[in-house]
Amino acid sequence: MQLIDGRAVAAQIKKEIAEEVARIKAQGGKTPHLAAVLVGHDGGSETYVASKVRACEEVGFQSTLIRYEDDVTEEELLACVDQLNNDADVDGFIVQLPLPGHISEGRITEAIDYRKDVDGFHPVNVGRMAIGLPCFLSATPSGIMELLKRYEIETRGKHCVILGRSNIVGKPAALLMMQKGYPGDCTVTVCHSRTKNIKEICLQADIIIAALGVPEFLKADMVKEGAVVIDVGTTRVPSDKTKSGFKLTGDVAFHEVAPKCSYITPVPGGVGPMTIVSLLKNTLLAGKKTIV
Ligand code: GUN
Repeated sequence: MQLIDGRAVAAQIKKEIAEEVARIKAQGGKTPHLAAVLVGHDGGSETYVASKVRACEEVGFQSTLIRYEDDVTEEELLACVDQLNNDADVDGFIVQLPLPGHISEGRITEAIDYRKDVDGFHPVNVGRMAIGLPCFLSATPSGIMELLKRYEIETRGKHCVILGRSNIVGKPAALLMMQKGYPGDCTVTVCHSRTKNIKEICLQADIIIAALGVPEFLKADMVKEGAVVIDVGTTRVPSDKTKSGFKLTGDVAFHEVAPKCSYITPVPGGVGPMTIVSLLKNTLLAGKKTIV
């Protein structure tokens, strides 16, 4: 069994991005600039956005954090999006989700200029991804593809079972794993809360991508010997063993599943560190005006 070290891969890619940014600057080019919009004070969102801003600094990007209180109106937020769309200095931006209930996440996402949508959530980017056109890929599926590539894990002709059908992980991961070429060329099955015989389907999988958000859902008796297991789960489970009072828990019962796997991602330290790297990759693309 080989552990897929997302932290090490992420550090390596950050180094590669930093080198490229240094080259761009040395040639008199524009420093890539990411803006992040954060609404309210949700602990998880605060942590994620702080990590994104820190990562930008590490690779030499410019970053701007724009904050609003929970009571911001949809109109105010739409005006902010409009301003960022029209700010020539900002190459790409994100509006951190979730947003308060009185704001439509769909309206906000669709208001973002798809050429600056470095989250890859805009329908134009999702549609382009679906038919294999240049686009901003959403962070988690893109991070998974990068891990498969860097570890040279064979995907061609393999049966990939995806647990979860969310718009930001399950669905795009299914599209990418079935696309022509490497990493891809898989036969893909998507399982979800209404799927019958999940265990039997998982037992047929060469590659399992677990993204349901149910802690330790995937057990050893659901996994074929030699399978590749990618764990996307990041549920905060209360714990008295950590300083923060919670433990990040994946969708895979790691200790019993790992011995059966050829490769497996840990939680934390697997897919998680790759998501910010995907955002950095997209911001670099945005800075070069690659997606038009
Ligand atoms: N909330 C959780 N993950 C993400 C993400 O990748 N982008 C944004 N904008 N919000 C999120």
